[in-house]
Amino acid sequence: MSDEKTDELRALLAGRPETLQVVDSLLAVWPEHAAYLLKSFSPRTTAMLDATEAAASAARKLIAGQEATFAGDYRWTCDRLRDEELFFHREGHYRLSTFAEANAEVYSNHDYMGRYVNGLLLTQLLWYNHVATFEMFLNSVLPNADKPFDYLEVGPGHGLMVYFAAQSPLCRTLEAWDVSAVSLRETRAALKTLGLTKPVSLVETDILQTKRPDRRFDLIVISEVLEHLEAPDVALRFLRDCITDDGRIFINVPLNSPSPDHIYLLSTPEEVTALVEGAGFKVEQLSLFATQAKRIESALTNRISVSAGVIARPN
Ligand SMILES: C[S@@+](CC[C@H](N)C(=O)[O-])C[C@H]1O[C@@H](n2cnc3c(N)ncnc32)[C@H](O)[C@@H]1O
Repeated sequence: MSDEKTDELRALLAGRPETLQVVDSLLAVWPEHAAYLLKSFSPRTTAMLDATEAAASAARKLIAGQEATFAGDYRWTCDRLRDEELFFHREGHYRLSTFAEANAEVYSNHDYMGRYVNGLLLTQLLWYNHVATFEMFLNSVLPNADKPFDYLEVGPGHGLMVYFAAQSPLCRTLEAWDVSAVSLRETRAALKTLGLTKPVSLVETDILQTKRPDRRFDLIVISEVLEHLEAPDVALRFLRDCITDDGRIFINVPLNSPSPDHIYLLSTPEEVTALVEGAGFKVEQLSLFATQAKRIESALTNRISVSAGVIARPN
């Protein structure tokens, strides 16, 4: 059964050598995951498969020589998420609700963080909803810049979006903020490995505490961060003050998505719109992508994870 799925998956990825390499190195460690991956890859559009290949090409540089470790850490991360899902579906809320709790359990536990961050890198290309929002960033956000732009990202993780933003000839300056020194170290190392030559200003700061910078940004990205905050409304209002009058913000936030360090639960697209518009933005586009490309309505009804990709402008 697993062999059949593997063959089908490999056939689907013919002509996508970077993706196939990552998938093969994962299946060497976790062959039973082929069925999940087949469901995740089958519904991808050509544009999504192209975005997957771009992410895989970058990820392969970051994991070179440590493929088995990253594959093992991805499996471990999926196990942690399954534990959180069981709690969420039993109790109806995320297990943690304060930054102090997430910090004690996750952020300050370096061993845990190391594995978790490795696992999350692979989700960027293996999970349907993660690829879908990444594709939105590549094809609906970056190319729509019509003049030189200054880029700010909050919580850049491995810096893949910073890296791809930097490839735009219109990208003038790049800055990224993160509360975690460990995470920023990862970002710096990853951008160096990826060979980024444009300078990136990496700033250690808490989005909920930081002072208003003396400059404003034309494109702001905050991806998979709001659900980590006690007060996402405060963060968005702050970013509203940091954006140019004709600037754009790209927000990627998951709904009903239990994770060891998710503390702020959003359950519906209406809540996302209210949050973003309440902070002084006008939503131009809100796209929803469910795990495994499930139907959005049934995913929302059954509280299965859905990623919301939002493009908004100052109101
Ligand atoms: C899950 S990662 C997101 C990585 C990447 N943006 C992505 O889309 O995969 C969340 C990031 O947000 C950062 N973060 C969490 N709370 C923050 C805060 N209050 N201020 C700034 N960054 C924060 C974390 O340190 C982490 O690097």
